[in-house]
Amino acid sequence: MTNEYQFDVLIIGSGAAGLSTALRLADIDGSIAILSKGPLQEGSTFYAQGGIAAVLDDEDCIDSHVEDTLIAGAGLCNKEAVEFTVTHSKRCIDWLIDKGVNFSRSEINKEDYHLTQEGGHSRRRIIHAADATGKEVETTLVSAIRACENVQIFEHHTAVDLLTSDKHAIGSTQCHRHCFGAYVLNLATEKVEVFRARFVVLATGGASKVYQYTSNPDIASGDGIAIAWRAGCSVANLEFNQFHPTCLFHPDAKSYLISEAVRGEGGKLLLPDGTRFMDRFDPRGELAPRDIVARAIDHEMKRLGIQSVFLDISHKEPEFIMNHFPTIYAKCLELGIDITKQAIPVVPAAHYTCGGIKVTLNAETNLNQLYAIGEVSSTGLHGANRMASNSLLECLVYAESASNHIRSLWDKVAEPLQASVWDSSRVKDSDEEVVVTHNWQELRRLMWDYVGIVRTDKRLQRARRRIQLLKQEITEYYSNFHITNDLLELRNLVVVAELMVECAMRRKESRGLHFSLDYPNLLGEFGVDTVLTPTQEKSHALTTPTNLICE
Ligand code: FAD
Ligand code: SIN
Repeated sequence: MTNEYQFDVLIIGSGAAGLSTALRLADIDGSIAILSKGPLQEGSTFYAQGGIAAVLDDEDCIDSHVEDTLIAGAGLCNKEAVEFTVTHSKRCIDWLIDKGVNFSRSEINKEDYHLTQEGGHSRRRIIHAADATGKEVETTLVSAIRACENVQIFEHHTAVDLLTSDKHAIGSTQCHRHCFGAYVLNLATEKVEVFRARFVVLATGGASKVYQYTSNPDIASGDGIAIAWRAGCSVANLEFNQFHPTCLFHPDAKSYLISEAVRGEGGKLLLPDGTRFMDRFDPRGELAPRDIVARAIDHEMKRLGIQSVFLDISHKEPEFIMNHFPTIYAKCLELGIDITKQAIPVVPAAHYTCGGIKVTLNAETNLNQLYAIGEVSSTGLHGANRMASNSLLECLVYAESASNHIRSLWDKVAEPLQASVWDSSRVKDSDEEVVVTHNWQELRRLMWDYVGIVRTDKRLQRARRRIQLLKQEITEYYSNFHITNDLLELRNLVVVAELMVECAMRRKESRGLHFSLDYPNLLGEFGVDTVLTPTQEKSHALTTPTNLICE
């Protein structure tokens, strides 16, 4: 017997994007469900360090934040989306403060908030909670959501696929093609459940786990992008994956970021002999946009055959360092590095998925009644390179616009259709889990080696060939065995990897985060988004899983 639920709104993901959307709708006369793969607070939001970019200072202005974002985006931002996001920045920060988020105050005037500086920003405009902004935001929103009576929370529930009217509805489907829920794996019971809803929101975060080295937590496996792709949504600009220049290089540190705010507050990048090198690559030095800093570090590491470069803030007063970066200080100290006295060994790692599901200013996808918000989406804000601290802002702004849009359709959208059942009668328990672990490692390794910071046509072709083989194996495995969270993530990662390679192969130039040795220049004719649409890309469509039976 399959568990079945019905809600007005189903929100898949509980980071800044998902929780803000739920909270924006919490006063509505209706029911909301929110799903997370792990504990509610686990996701990239929780680990965000630097802060949130917004126009808050009297000396700052919308035009300046817009201009900086457009420059970082290397000619590929959608100006309307940038203006829309920046214009709404202050009210979204006010909303967070109203919810109880406790941002750091200025040391000069305690009435004011302290604003820090990060790469690409022409002035201080990053509001933050010391160096653990995400933890403060996420825990505040989690407490707020737990107090909402009309929001039901489903932790340890992984969305498998969306329900669409043409594929999964029972009975009459004489309606426009739309989304009406999702199949969801309950990780406690290991059973697939049916969640039906009038509106569905994907807020599943990014896909940086497709790379071997990443700053992201384990949940960042691109599920939303793959799920939406299988449901017929267009995706855009997946060749632009951001590598953060400074992740801690230490055998005992898994995915630990050293915030860009360390460079913003004067941190210097050094070679092992103590010399600075960033000025050779960009006049903005350590505060050049991330793509430039990450490539410079990659170049120096390869040139000198070194395992890391160093980030040094030890010239600042110890008290300043401990006040501004208490979490980073404590983490490094735990590993034997006293950052008030020593430089920190750092390397670049995959950090942020700039592309994603293509959406409008209201976060609507091209599938009716389906929205995508946050890192999973491509709004046009980031173009070819996201500017630091613009992504939490994007989560907040689009959560507001999407919830307003849902409200405007509230009385017009009918009850969800009846869904066909999930049939697992023809699958059995896996006999070789090693297939999942092996393919998982192989995929992430090949993406790092062939689709990393510097690309070539040959490397991309190699990646494409190997991904095709992996995809075949994974699809076969998925069709024959009971699903697990690991298998679902792998199935999604291979789809995202394929889409990333496809986008990268189409961009025969270098721009922003996509750098090809074969095409080292930025070319005017490529100043457009790389958009993939499933109906036009038949070769990408995964075969319909055999354990899904449409009645
Ligand atoms: P997330 O916060 O990643 O949440 C995703 C949610 O989706 C989780 O609840 C997860 O369980 C759920 N989920 C995923 N797949 C499924 C599925 N199949 N079924 C059910 N649930 C699912 N940005 C800034 O602007 N400023 C910063 O200072 C900053 N620092 C960062 C530091 C680090 C270490 C990292 C990793 C990122 C940082 N970023 C920063 C980026 C920013 O944190 C993220 O882009 C943003 O938090 C994404 O929010 P989100 O709500 O879209 O996704
Ligand atoms: C950081 O603190 O360096 C991360 C900021 C971001 O990713 O926006």
